[in-house]
Amino acid sequence: MERLMHVKPDMSYKEDAIAYINEHYEVGSAINGVGGLKRYLDDYEGWLEKLETDRHQVPNEEHVPAETYFLVRESDNRIVGMINIRLVLNERLQKRGGHIGYGIRPSERQKGYNKINLYLALKRCQELGIETVLLDCNKNNLGSSKTMQAFGGVLINEWYDEEDKKIDQRYSINVNEAIKNYQDIYEPFIVQKEGENECNRSKKLI
Ligand SMILES: CC(C)(COP(=O)(O)OP(=O)(O)OC[C@H]1O[C@@H](n2cnc3c(N)ncnc32)[C@H](O)[C@@H]1OP(=O)(O)O)[C@@H](O)C(=O)NCCC(=O)NCCS
Repeated sequence: MERLMHVKPDMSYKEDAIAYINEHYEVGSAINGVGGLKRYLDDYEGWLEKLETDRHQVPNEEHVPAETYFLVRESDNRIVGMINIRLVLNERLQKRGGHIGYGIRPSERQKGYNKINLYLALKRCQELGIETVLLDCNKNNLGSSKTMQAFGGVLINEWYDEEDKKIDQRYSINVNEAIKNYQDIYEPFIVQKEGENECNRSKKLI
């Protein structure tokens, strides 16, 4: 499989980021984990500013600090997915929403990319000291629930969402356990960060 990385959005991805959202509209797909990008298709620069505001947000019942990343394929620098990580949960997100929203562009699904997307996010959560990650999904969204289960996600509860008329589920993932148990599987598929120990790096990329 290809190697992937999380990239902080910048101007160089403007065209592909807009194409990423439009691809969802073309096939009528749900959009998730894009940090509000779909509302900024005519103002990408404004979206980048919004992401900076999001990062430094003081938590309250309306907003929480959050980070948004592109999941980028190393071989062609294409955005294949996106993810939004809430660094703190307010009461509302404790109940519904959780820490992470994610998605993969329609033409790149079912290649195992979202598992890499979540693995990279779990590593970021570990860096930030988040020990337990909460995630929600529709019960019939097997791509999402299986992604969580791939990291030992435990189903905590289910409820009927009146608005969507669907059953939603909440999963919990123990961040340290997930990384310890699954790093051998996923490390070979991520592009290591600059400055990482070269010995580790060559070992991981074999
Ligand atoms: C859900 C989503 C992120 C999955 O992305 P993906 O890259 O296709 O997922 P992966 O290829 O990493 O697959 C993860 C697991 O789900 C399974 N899976 C993926 N799509 C599936 C589908 N449509 N039906 C059944 N299983 C599916 C894979 O087989 C894999 O299971 P495994 O670990 O047992 O092999 C993607 O479909 C998407 O972006 N959907 C729209 C947005 C969305 O729903 N986001 C989540 C909101 S909670």
